[in-house]
Amino acid sequence: MNVAFEKGLQSELDALKAAGTYKRLRHLTTPMAAEVHMEEAGDVIVLSSNNYLGLSDEPSVVEAGKRGLDQYGAGTASVRFICGTFDIHRRLEDRIAEFLGTEASLTYVSCWSANTGLFATICGPGSAIISDELNHASIIDGVRLASKAKRAVYKHGDMADLETKLKEAAGCAPILVVTDGVFSMEGSLAKLPEIVALAKRYDAVTVVDDSHGTGVMGKTGRGTIEHFGLTGQVDIITGTLGKALGGAAGGFVAGSHALIDTLIQRSRPQLFSNALPATVACSSLQAIEYLDAHPDLVDRLCENTAYFRAGLKRIGYKPLDGPSAIVPIIVGETASAIAISDKLLERGIFVTGFGFPVVPEGTARIRTQLSASLTKDEMDRALSAFEAVGKEVGLLT
Ligand SMILES: Cc1ncc(COP(=O)(O)O)c(C=O)c1O
Repeated sequence: MNVAFEKGLQSELDALKAAGTYKRLRHLTTPMAAEVHMEEAGDVIVLSSNNYLGLSDEPSVVEAGKRGLDQYGAGTASVRFICGTFDIHRRLEDRIAEFLGTEASLTYVSCWSANTGLFATICGPGSAIISDELNHASIIDGVRLASKAKRAVYKHGDMADLETKLKEAAGCAPILVVTDGVFSMEGSLAKLPEIVALAKRYDAVTVVDDSHGTGVMGKTGRGTIEHFGLTGQVDIITGTLGKALGGAAGGFVAGSHALIDTLIQRSRPQLFSNALPATVACSSLQAIEYLDAHPDLVDRLCENTAYFRAGLKRIGYKPLDGPSAIVPIIVGETASAIAISDKLLERGIFVTGFGFPVVPEGTARIRTQLSASLTKDEMDRALSAFEAVGKEVGLLT
């Protein structure tokens, strides 16, 4: 063991602990659901999962995964183009494309992998990528990998700044404009109608990562693009299967046949890493089928979000407004956010505090996320705990 190296790591960890910003993993012993059992805290209500539609423990989704394991075994022990693709991958990819209204799609082991495998593949010398400053870390890292492209960041949601950056990219091809559909720390939506209009005016390609919008936004849960009535008008959609759509893992890129074929040929996570496990492909496919058969889940999620947001306001909090299922409460310092989430956990509410560097300094927050599976009784119990903790820490009078 290199003693100096280990000492350096330990002193950084000690500094995080001293600053109250050290993250502790919590261990669940039951499936993700509205209520779970946590090794460290007993039975708790979950308000910090992306299990928006409650499909993580939906029996037909779990059964589909089990059948996948029986039919396909543990995996292919190979990357996809060598001998690592099952027919279930094609079925899932066709279904994702049909669901989102694109020609084709391609799965990856995560949306992180999809985003880091996308930009460098399609953006070489002479191209440009223009990205919202609050885009997810996987987009930021994916764009960094496209090191030969001209890269620019526009101020969050600022269409004038986006237009300036589009003008500065004149002469580049392709020019990509990339945004989250739902911004995960704010719960707000990208201004997609304006972004699509600007992209058309400047002959740019639109890319939307709708990881927090899929299953949540739009009448049938097809996402932020459906919400704005823009189906068919966004060039490239990326997303995750690890949130509303079953919650196991997996991500995808959806777009034209030519785009997907190019990714199969050249996207590095496709060429040098194994496919999504077949069990997950099967359970994710069933999650999409289940959502299509039960669009009322999206309505229930929306009702739950409105109910919880109104409850927070009634007891004196000022949650950020927004149409998604993410309801953040800004508390200021990172240590306060972590302390509040610890106190809520003591009262049986599992919700995570986020601070710097995930969000800007001074805007640490408790991010609550709603699920269609939460009952009114569970939300009321959570609101009582929020009220008690808010008073205890002086956020509420
Ligand atoms: C907007 C966005 N994109 C991508 C990801 C990564 O998704 P995955 O867990 O499938 O890698 C996340 C996950 O938090 C996300 O919020």
